[in-house]
Amino acid sequence: MKTPEERGRVVRPGGVIGILGGGQLGRMMALAGRHMGYRFLTLDPQPDSPCGQVCDDQITAAYHDVDAAEALARRCDVITYEFENVDVAVTQVLERTAWVPQGSRLLWTTRHRVREKRAVEAAGAKVAAYRPVRTRDDLERAIADIHLPAILKTSTGGYDGKGQWRVDTVADVDAVWAEAVRVAKASGSADSVADPDADAPLILERVVDFVCELSVIVARSVRGEVRAFPPAENIHRHHILHMSVVPARVPAAVQQRAQALAMQIAESLDAVGLLAVEMFYGRDGELYVNELAPRPHNSGHYTLDACETSQFEQHIRAICNLPLGGVRLWSPVVMVNILGEHLDAVVARAADLPPMVKVHIYGKAEARPGRKMGHLNVLAPSVSEAIHLVDGLGIWEPVE
Ligand SMILES: Nc1ncnc2c1ncn2[C@@H]1O[C@H](COP(=O)(O)OP(=O)(O)O)[C@@H](O)[C@H]1O
Ligand SMILES: [Mg+2]
Repeated sequence: MKTPEERGRVVRPGGVIGILGGGQLGRMMALAGRHMGYRFLTLDPQPDSPCGQVCDDQITAAYHDVDAAEALARRCDVITYEFENVDVAVTQVLERTAWVPQGSRLLWTTRHRVREKRAVEAAGAKVAAYRPVRTRDDLERAIADIHLPAILKTSTGGYDGKGQWRVDTVADVDAVWAEAVRVAKASGSADSVADPDADAPLILERVVDFVCELSVIVARSVRGEVRAFPPAENIHRHHILHMSVVPARVPAAVQQRAQALAMQIAESLDAVGLLAVEMFYGRDGELYVNELAPRPHNSGHYTLDACETSQFEQHIRAICNLPLGGVRLWSPVVMVNILGEHLDAVVARAADLPPMVKVHIYGKAEARPGRKMGHLNVLAPSVSEAIHLVDGLGIWEPVE
């Protein structure tokens, strides 16, 4: 909880914002904040990072370099981050020597799937049935309890579907177990000692039978103001987000429930800044929270062109303790990710894309397959027209 003095702390335009991490999320934060008169400094191991390109300066150093983090802190009025695997030692130093309104507690919670699920349940939201898994016996018991099909996931370090294995029948168990133990060991869970109840390196989750996947980006400011953006309907391909559709094609009442749930979780977790809440809209009509991310989120990129305030501006407002911006949606929109394999085609077509196609490119040097290089926001009178337009470009496999 923040002290009354902290709750009144404002970082005014002209202030310097430090960003841990130099990827596209930091880049879009800095671009939004520059309009508002802030200056930016990023820390990233890679010179000329996507964020560094648009900042006043970059400190080029490893994420776990405590001296570099201290050097960053000395030059900034407030520190934020653009990815969740911020080094624990670094956060501790920064919290002592700098203003980190987001704190480190939420990072600690969301970094571990078991802790995250417990926090979501404590906030009064539903999650898929799950069991922490430490041993092969735990796995057998977990399967008996929650039934198959299920998904075994590493508790830490997973992203874009990495570190998870589907278990459809008992015949899958041997192979999945061997692979999961190997990957969990490599990803490590060294920072989890503080909560021995939640230190399991793996987690088994029941497969939720869902209509679609939704996400809500919610912002909570230092002073405690909370606002949630309209839910996005997310379509994944090869476990990577492919498309976000807004408004989501679910009943309005479900959209409202999803927003209310996200706000409830942000308040319960005492979050500051952005919190992305991924959920499943189950065939049983329930919303099950899948994952949290305490930062801007790929599924919120649609706000850049379609909302009164972008998620990035909202994040800056939240951590600088300005009033939060409005979250009204101006137009139906579809966001499509440009991965490494799509970039050349998008660039080649740049001169003949219709004007309601907004192109965002992140400035990454190398376009590897599966790497997020940019995105399109396609505005149209309806989401089906926007999807139709994307399909017509012939760059992505059609959605419909
Ligand atoms: N319990 C589940 N039931 C159904 N589908 C799931 C479940 N867990 C994960 N998935 C599918 O796998 C995707 C990735 O899982 P997620 O937990 O979000 O990991 P990450 O995004 O870190 O790779 C989800 O977006 C969803 O499509
Ligand atoms: Mg996810």
